[in-house]
Amino acid sequence: MSSVDAFDLVVRNARVATASDVFLADIGIRDGRIAQLGRNLPQGAQDIDAAGRTVTPGGVDAHCHLDQPMAPPLRMADDFDTGTRAAACGGTTTVIPFAAQAKGGSLRAAVADYHQRAEGRAHVDYAFHLIVSDPTPAVLAQELPALIAEGYTSFKIYMTYDDLKLDDGQMLDVLAVAREHGAMAMVHAENADCIEWLTKRLEAAGRTAPRFHGLSRPMLVEREATHRAMSLAELVDVPILIVHVSGREAVEQIRWARSRGLKVFAETCPQYLFLTADDLGLDDSYQGARCVCSPPPRDKANQAVIWDGLADGLFTVFSSDHAPFRFDDPQGKKPGGEEVPFRHIPNGIPGIETRMALLYSEGVLGGRITLEKFVELTATHPAKAYGLHPRKGTIAIGSDADLVIWDEGERVIRNADLHHAVDYTPYEGQRLRAWPGTTIANGEVVWNGVFHPRAGKGRFLACGAPTLLPRATRSPAP
Ligand code: URP
Ligand code: ZN
Ligand code: ZN
Repeated sequence: MSSVDAFDLVVRNARVATASDVFLADIGIRDGRIAQLGRNLPQGAQDIDAAGRTVTPGGVDAHCHLDQPMAPPLRMADDFDTGTRAAACGGTTTVIPFAAQAKGGSLRAAVADYHQRAEGRAHVDYAFHLIVSDPTPAVLAQELPALIAEGYTSFKIYMTYDDLKLDDGQMLDVLAVAREHGAMAMVHAENADCIEWLTKRLEAAGRTAPRFHGLSRPMLVEREATHRAMSLAELVDVPILIVHVSGREAVEQIRWARSRGLKVFAETCPQYLFLTADDLGLDDSYQGARCVCSPPPRDKANQAVIWDGLADGLFTVFSSDHAPFRFDDPQGKKPGGEEVPFRHIPNGIPGIETRMALLYSEGVLGGRITLEKFVELTATHPAKAYGLHPRKGTIAIGSDADLVIWDEGERVIRNADLHHAVDYTPYEGQRLRAWPGTTIANGEVVWNGVFHPRAGKGRFLACGAPTLLPRATRSPAP
């Protein structure tokens, strides 16, 4: 920047959208932050004319899995390099993946290992959620409180998956720590015993193709676990966030809990809007393994319920749950090179790059949600839920200059055009009405049809307390 430039970058004539307003403005950026909002701002060292285009905050993807350690032979395809590259090209400028405690291992060690995996690789900023899989007395009394104080203010607990799940007593213990230390507890709500019972019966009947994954995890198992998780949270008197809600039955439970005044937040993901159980296969073909995720996609009627919940405030955040396993790969959907029974197919699908465009296209331009609601779901609320607002998730003076300038016009999703390291997208062929034309991360153009690498410039963000709720006075847990 020359000494006469007031700004490093000005995004001019933008139709700026926040979670509360849409207005015309120039955005003046200095030192990676938004320095001024106004009209006719002076020339910057760089100027981008956004006339006629919408500018939203960079997305905050608050549920994605990058380079998460897996049991051999499995390995996630995306690390912090390729995962944040794909994020940036899809309009996401902050990611929050998971530092996962192994059973028998230390949470602190998991965090240290995860920092090494991220170090020097990220193209956009990142924070960590924790996964608590082994709440020992030391974890509950020392590790978790200390980590929360250091900026790891959210953690996920699982009610399914043998290597991760907690029983109800363990959940109560962990929720009590969330209450006492003001952390956000995220819950994967599916009933593990029901899933195991159904899986064994399906296997005994020889029904092991990918499509039977859906039958092993019907909505009832999600409904029951959602109800139980909210009851446990009520007992402890702590807010919780139910992740990846898939359809009507869990939605009904959350509405019921909210009507009783419980502080329950909810997340949903693109797979519950754009995929159905049919994508797991109409016959016994292994192709359906591409869409094996949990909870599984439901049907069109449930998609409509999820759309309603996005529009009417049932959902707090919209995340990708990007869980990147290659299809044709012995470390991915064909473990050891085999087409395996559904029980052994790694769960999860890619979606970090397509999350924003899918919701903008079918939600905003499809007339289902307002532009403000889009910003709330994809950026503002995730930043508030995980203690990153107002630095992230909005367009305001002093906030980080993380922006998306949208290109409206028809486009078709093709995996060949994406920037993750996965060999497929579940959304291949899906028509879009818009795509992030330019992504700006900390004041630098990272994507404008061409990816501009900035590995290592993505910074670790220590999170503060969640700010979705007014700061309540918390008495010690019972
Ligand atoms: O199937 C899924 N969702 N895999 C990713 C891990 C998780 O439970 O979020
Ligand atoms: Zn989960
Ligand atoms: Zn996940």
